[in-house]
Amino acid sequence: MLQPSTRTGDCLLETLPHQSKHPKWVLFLTVCVAVLCLPGAAATTLNCHKTCICASNIVSCSKMNLTTVPTLIPNYTGVLDLSYNEITKLLSEWTPIVLPKLHNLLLSHNGLFFLSSEAFIKVKNLRYLDLSSNSLRQLDEFIFEPLANLEVLLLYNNLISQIDRSAFVGVINLQKLYLSQNQISRFPLELVKEKSRLERLSLLDVSSNKIKLLPIEELKALPAWLKNGLYFHNNPLPCHCDLYTLLAHWYLRKLNSAVDFKDDYTCILPGLQKKQVAVFDLSGETMNCSTFKEAGEEAFLEQILTLSCDTKHRDMSKTWTLPGNVPVIPGSNQTAKVLPDGSLQISSVRSDDSGTYTCFAMSEAINETIYVVLKVHNLTMHGSGETLNTAYTTLVGCLASVVLVLMYLYLTPCRCFCCPSKGKTRGEDSIHSSMLSVTPTHEDPALKAELNKHVAFIDSKDLQGQNGKLNPNGNENDDDDLDAEAGSLMKGKRKKSVAESISSVFSDTPMVV
Ligand SMILES: *[C@@H]1O[C@H](CO)[C@@H](O)[C@H](O)[C@H]1NC(C)=O
Ligand SMILES: *[C@@H]1O[C@H](CO)[C@@H](O)[C@H](O)[C@H]1NC(C)=O
Ligand SMILES: *[C@@H]1O[C@H](CO)[C@@H](O)[C@H](O)[C@H]1NC(C)=O
Ligand SMILES: *[C@@H]1O[C@H](CO)[C@@H](O)[C@H](O)[C@H]1NC(C)=O
Ligand SMILES: *[C@@H]1O[C@H](CO)[C@@H](O)[C@H](O)[C@H]1NC(C)=O
Ligand SMILES: *[C@@H]1O[C@H](CO)[C@@H](O)[C@H](O)[C@H]1NC(C)=O
Repeated sequence: MLQPSTRTGDCLLETLPHQSKHPKWVLFLTVCVAVLCLPGAAATTLNCHKTCICASNIVSCSKMNLTTVPTLIPNYTGVLDLSYNEITKLLSEWTPIVLPKLHNLLLSHNGLFFLSSEAFIKVKNLRYLDLSSNSLRQLDEFIFEPLANLEVLLLYNNLISQIDRSAFVGVINLQKLYLSQNQISRFPLELVKEKSRLERLSLLDVSSNKIKLLPIEELKALPAWLKNGLYFHNNPLPCHCDLYTLLAHWYLRKLNSAVDFKDDYTCILPGLQKKQVAVFDLSGETMNCSTFKEAGEEAFLEQILTLSCDTKHRDMSKTWTLPGNVPVIPGSNQTAKVLPDGSLQISSVRSDDSGTYTCFAMSEAINETIYVVLKVHNLTMHGSGETLNTAYTTLVGCLASVVLVLMYLYLTPCRCFCCPSKGKTRGEDSIHSSMLSVTPTHEDPALKAELNKHVAFIDSKDLQGQNGKLNPNGNENDDDDLDAEAGSLMKGKRKKSVAESISSVFSDTPMVV
């Protein structure tokens, strides 16, 4: 129990100055006061005149050197500001009563290093929680679970190195999560990956950490509205053309995370010096990464094809034009139609469907134009099926020939070997042997070739199967190796991130007072 002891300490401090003047009875008095102080909590009861400013539902106790949360916070409080104090532990009983109306809790700049696993069970309606600029080291499992209404969580500028995979379970309404300027070495893929992701999360900031391994393939697969708010600059990532391609694409799409921090994306060149270079310079002479071209779609004749309109923002109204600027009109006899989710479906692809399709997406805040380049192969899917069929017949033919050869190799000598005494006529024998000797010499090269073909075929098929299985899914990026050197990278300051992103927090989620 921390609270009673600190209270006792406060009371002792108050009485100490008298000690020199009245040495005898002061000790008794001190003990008395200390005992009285214990249940009374005099030092930290909410005082709306001295330590806090109370304005209707706002309680602001910022910069008051508080070591504990004041007790008796009224149950109608909506905003509680305890920033810039010395509250190092948030215990489960920090508020003895339920605060059903509390939606903003500000605890930044406190030196907080301990969060009770039950710290938030009485404030379930929090929408905005600021724990930034503290000394938190780890996020335990289910720590934020009671906060089903939380929308914004600020955890930047702490010492967090460990994030339990279940740390953010239950925060189903979380939209913005700031984890910048910590010691994180594992990219928290579970937060954004399909199926396990927080459904409403649209901003994740893991910039200025110690991440050395990025799940590039998984990041590529994310929808653009999530990439738009995925900040990972200023991490000790190794230089690789994949990283360049990823960011070059994001930049081309004008995604905020790439555009706003273009110069802050750096990587470490392979080699002993560990030289740090800008990722966007990798296309130059340093690594000769090829410049990125917008990837198009490919299709076969008669296929049903869906082109998605992958926009930077969610819930936009989308319209399409076909190659040659032909608008897609709902209810017309066109083969292309816009689906309810905004993607374009072409019911039976023809070779003259090739070209550039344009999606115009509109919302109140932004207009976007997305181009999809479609290339139609002059082949049907069925056509490729036919080649597979011929492959199968070849395989069956091969197997049949192999069986024949084996029969020839094993059965014929056996008959002569096992039953030599059984008198067969010479004529029969010679005919037999000649027949058999003729067939192999006649077929030998072809058979050999076919056999080779067979082997090659099985090989390539095997390989294909393996590639299919090798699908690198278990890419968990457990890079828990904390490299002290990487700390030097932390010097990069969080610049626009805080200002821009936080201002956007406020613009998006107005502080309801
Ligand atoms: C808090 O402590 C600092 C240093 O001990 C002191 O300068 C400041 O006046 C204190 N503030 C309050 C509100 O007591
Ligand atoms: C706050 O507490 C008072 C009693 O002190 C109670 O009457 C009231 O209903 C409570 N309000 C809420 C919102 O819980
Ligand atoms: C990149 O290409 C340039 C010219 O084509 C060449 O001089 C340079 O050595 C290449 N750099 C690397 C790292 O391959
Ligand atoms: C669609 O209808 C228009 C007339 O309404 C006609 O000119 C056009 O050829 C039709 N297109 C197709 C693909 O049937
Ligand atoms: C988006 O485009 C529509 C129509 O062209 C226009 O009326 C609207 O003002 C545009 N909105 C923005 C945010 O640019
Ligand atoms: C596609 O193939 C057909 C014959 O299969 C041919 O007539 C046609 O010209 C080809 N089209 C293109 C665009 O190559």
